[in-house]
Amino acid sequence: MGKLKPDLVFCNLSRRDPDIKISPERLNHFACDLSRPAEVERAARSVGDFLQRASPAGQILLINNSGFGTMGAFPEPELSRQLEMIDLNVRAVVQLTGLMLPLLRARGGAIMNIASTAAFQPTPTMATYGATKAFVLHWSHALNYELRGSGVRAIAVCPGTTRTEFFKTAGLKAGNRADTFAMTTDDVVLASLRALGAGCSQVVTGWKNKLSAFASSPVPKSLATRVAGAVLATYRKLQSS
Ligand SMILES: NC(=O)c1ccc[n+]([C@@H]2O[C@H](COP(=O)([O-])OP(=O)(O)OC[C@H]3O[C@@H](n4cnc5c(N)ncnc54)[C@H](OP(=O)(O)O)[C@@H]3O)[C@@H](O)[C@H]2O)c1
Repeated sequence: MGKLKPDLVFCNLSRRDPDIKISPERLNHFACDLSRPAEVERAARSVGDFLQRASPAGQILLINNSGFGTMGAFPEPELSRQLEMIDLNVRAVVQLTGLMLPLLRARGGAIMNIASTAAFQPTPTMATYGATKAFVLHWSHALNYELRGSGVRAIAVCPGTTRTEFFKTAGLKAGNRADTFAMTTDDVVLASLRALGAGCSQVVTGWKNKLSAFASSPVPKSLATRVAGAVLATYRKLQSS
């Protein structure tokens, strides 16, 4: 995006300074633990002030990307981690969007919420994670409907396995056979931006993920749960091979 529009200004909200090759004048990092509501509020205020000062006109794209998952039977690895996941994957998305919405409405733009193919069926061994992404998917669709005519749109992005730190954070080792099926982040970003440009309210990235999302949609939830449970068990075995 930076190459396409050289006047774009980026704001990053996460705990660590991101390792992105972009000039410091254009990338502004606001250190923030988004699982903590008070920090989300403080960061949203700082971003709003910054945008009004440094880039007072033009549309805004809010990307709610931060999130993590865990693997194991609930409540493994521990209940507090499950609650932190809900705070980050769900609460922060709703809170940040709510706090930024007045500015988005005033200037126009879009909200891109990163869900997952895990949103399409119950996910045994990732029960809480899948449910947080189902929330993000449904919420984004409803939000997009409510926002029609406002100059702001919402889109849910549903990637499948993607080469990032996600599985390492979830407690699995990286660089294994399961990575063969993974998409690159560049491909996921490109598909997401194309879908945003095309006015879609949802995108499942990659044809394999499209196929699995399509296959699970008309299936009864109890059957979808058994299939997803078997797939995730195989996936775990591949990850540890
Ligand atoms: N990779 C996949 O296979 C996959 C598939 C479907 C969906 N997704 C979704 O894609 C999104 C991005 O994940 P990823 O795959 O890029 O994983 P990742 O490499 O582990 O990145 C996670 C991101 O979330 C941020 N984050 C984590 N905890 C945070 C906190 N408490 N406060 C603020 N930021 C926090 C991290 O930054 P800091 O550590 O600096 O805070 C990092 O930027 C997530 O929502 C994930 O659920 C991933």
